[in-house]
Amino acid sequence: MGFIIECISLGKTYKRKGSAFTALSDINLKVSENEALLIRGRSGAGKSTLIHLMSGLIRPTSGKVLFDGIELGNSGNSILSEILLNKTGIIFQNFNLLPAYTVFENIELGILPKKTNSGKYREIINEYLKQFDLEGKEQLLPAELSTGQQQKVAVIRTLVREPSLIFADEPTGSVDDQSASEILEHLMNLKRQKNITLVMATHGNIPDRYADRIIELENGRIKG
Ligand SMILES: Nc1ncnc2c1ncn2[C@@H]1O[C@H](COP(=O)(O)OP(=O)(O)O)[C@@H](O)[C@H]1O
Ligand SMILES: [Mg+2]
Repeated sequence: MGFIIECISLGKTYKRKGSAFTALSDINLKVSENEALLIRGRSGAGKSTLIHLMSGLIRPTSGKVLFDGIELGNSGNSILSEILLNKTGIIFQNFNLLPAYTVFENIELGILPKKTNSGKYREIINEYLKQFDLEGKEQLLPAELSTGQQQKVAVIRTLVREPSLIFADEPTGSVDDQSASEILEHLMNLKRQKNITLVMATHGNIPDRYADRIIELENGRIKG
């Protein structure tokens, strides 16, 4: 099952001690079920802010985000909380790996909300590690990996949760070209086979063919 996400007159102004910076203004955008949307824009254009707003991590200062018609940020809505917790996944631009946990444990934590007792998830994690060339690294700490390897761990941590909607913020920003293709191909296969919806952001290194639709952000606004 997928969801329709809708941004209506969405805006975000970051305020701090007397100064304010408007990172996003007047974003109107609809993402359909099973769509792969690519958000392009230079550094500072507002891509991460938009992803964080759409995934409910931060609150807008104007407008709103709807998930199947339900507004994010309306507390006390258990259906929406369940959707966000169980059906969506975020691949963070800065990875957000937990430094004191091993590679395996970091990935395992991604699966925590729906971990089964079967032990099957261990096999699934190992398969992913193999596929992304991280075999033998499972007991290392994130700091003992290269940046690109850390990014792959962050990708796996999200994939093992099997979300129906994936937000991927520069998911290939730190990896080599071949790893980038592997990650993107994997996301495309999930989209085709499991009908997932993809919202990706990039400053430019994700080719057009990985998107059904591309929007361009410039200075916090959608171009064109
Ligand atoms: N927490 C914050 N406080 C103040 N300014 C912020 C914050 N987060 C982002 N910004 C600013 O908002 C703008 C957009 O940032 P971001 O959404 O990270 O852009 P992108 O992901 O496209 O590089 C930047 O100018 C950035 O400095
Ligand atoms: Mg960003």
